[in-house]
Amino acid sequence: MTPPLPRKILVTGGAGFIGANFVRLALAELPECRIVNLDRLTYAGNPANLADLEDQPRYRFVHGDIRDRELVDSIMAEEMIDTVVHFAAESHVDRSITDPDAFIETNITGTFTLLEAARARWLTAAGPGDTTTGTGGAGAGAANTSAAAANHNGGTTAVGETEIDGSGRKAGAERNPVAGDADPGIGDPAAAPPSPRFLHVSTDEVYGSLGPTGYFTEETPYDPRSPYSASKAAADHLARAYFHTYRLPVLVTNCSNNYGPYQFPEKLIPLIINNALEGRELPVYGDGRNVRDWLFVTDHCRALLTVLAAGLPGETYNIGGNNEQENIAIVEIICDLLDERVGPLPGGAPRRSLIRFVTDRPGHDRRYAIDAGKIERELGWEPAVGFTEGIARTIDWYLGNRAWLDGVLDGSYREYYRRMYAHR
Ligand code: NAD
Ligand code: DAU
Repeated sequence: MTPPLPRKILVTGGAGFIGANFVRLALAELPECRIVNLDRLTYAGNPANLADLEDQPRYRFVHGDIRDRELVDSIMAEEMIDTVVHFAAESHVDRSITDPDAFIETNITGTFTLLEAARARWLTAAGPGDTTTGTGGAGAGAANTSAAAANHNGGTTAVGETEIDGSGRKAGAERNPVAGDADPGIGDPAAAPPSPRFLHVSTDEVYGSLGPTGYFTEETPYDPRSPYSASKAAADHLARAYFHTYRLPVLVTNCSNNYGPYQFPEKLIPLIINNALEGRELPVYGDGRNVRDWLFVTDHCRALLTVLAAGLPGETYNIGGNNEQENIAIVEIICDLLDERVGPLPGGAPRRSLIRFVTDRPGHDRRYAIDAGKIERELGWEPAVGFTEGIARTIDWYLGNRAWLDGVLDGSYREYYRRMYAHR
């Protein structure tokens, strides 16, 4: 049987790094889907990331803020949105340390606004298939929550405990083929409207910092330590609360560090690539021995499509690359690959000579490492792109897209860089 996959997707933050990669992958992998991308185009949102999709009839860009409830409501109704994939966020830890306000606004208030809009649309309106915005009807979203409620509450009756269409089929089952409870009678995506899903995209940073051993699992208690991770943790708690309280079909993913095309050069890998190309110093915080678990961005996006297709509402899925690296190792790998590709620096020095150890990030988390066993076991996802391949592809993408890079290295970037690094 073919589970009905999401078809009318509201992507938030789709002009950013991961969002742009996701929009491209989803349009390619889900030929029937339509994507509406709501993005405020902050410094991190770049229309150039999706410029070639302008004429794609299944794609629409809306320039706006996720905190604008009226706008979100109108998109949900007009486009009959059945799936929200929520990326929009302030995402850079260093900026959260110097300017935390926007993190509270977008990451917490913005997520709250989206959850409320989804609740109003799916649980109190007539559901994603209805173009009216009235209240009172039991929407598909309300119906859809029953399977998940049974799953998590040992079969107790919960809000929205109804069948989806009177067939005896429990809502939610059609997206859960992996758990073995899918109804083989549901096969035609054109006939069966997809059940609503709210996929909240989060980070492994909510779990805090690890010592030399151990891994973050879905049960690891939250211990966020930067304004960024604290704001994401707050958003995760809200998202989960909407499942438990209202049975809004929320799924949460917590992913490790992404890298790949379209990443803004404030983050380690593109910053080092850019500086190394320009022959500038390569700032490594502290002793350079902090560890991150790096995942190629397309693998993250594939994991999100997997969770949408087969994940259970109310569940959390950790996503990681099984690829722990010390920062200094990452920087050295980039230096060596660039030397190979474009030759050493003028004068013949290797790019490693540009490395400078600088003042550490305040509260710098020492080590992140994800145990991605659950998504692998339950949904069959695992990373496909190893680090050797992924970092080479990433470097080649930046070398082949110098115009994109020049486009983002504008005055505001230069000012950011000066402010963040001049006195480090
Ligand atoms: P990004 O900073 O590259 O992009 C964020 C996007 O959100 C931008 O397009 C920006 O314009 C948009 N945005 C910001 N505020 C907005 C608002 N108020 N309304 C509408 N749009 C707004 O971020 P990213 O690295 O692509 O991360 C995307 C999501 O994935 C975030 O939620 C982040 O927490 C999460 N995440 C990122 C990583 C990573 O390594 N980059 C890892 C795990 C999870
Ligand atoms: O773990 C997932 C998180 O990964 C995401 O939630 C965040 O949105 C994303 O920004 C990323 O956070 P990090 O802080 O781990 O990423 P960043 O690229 O900023 O830094 C990676 C490591 O490199 C970190 O230990 C700090 C260090 N670093 C970073 C910069 C920008 C340096 O040593 N020098 C630098 O100039």
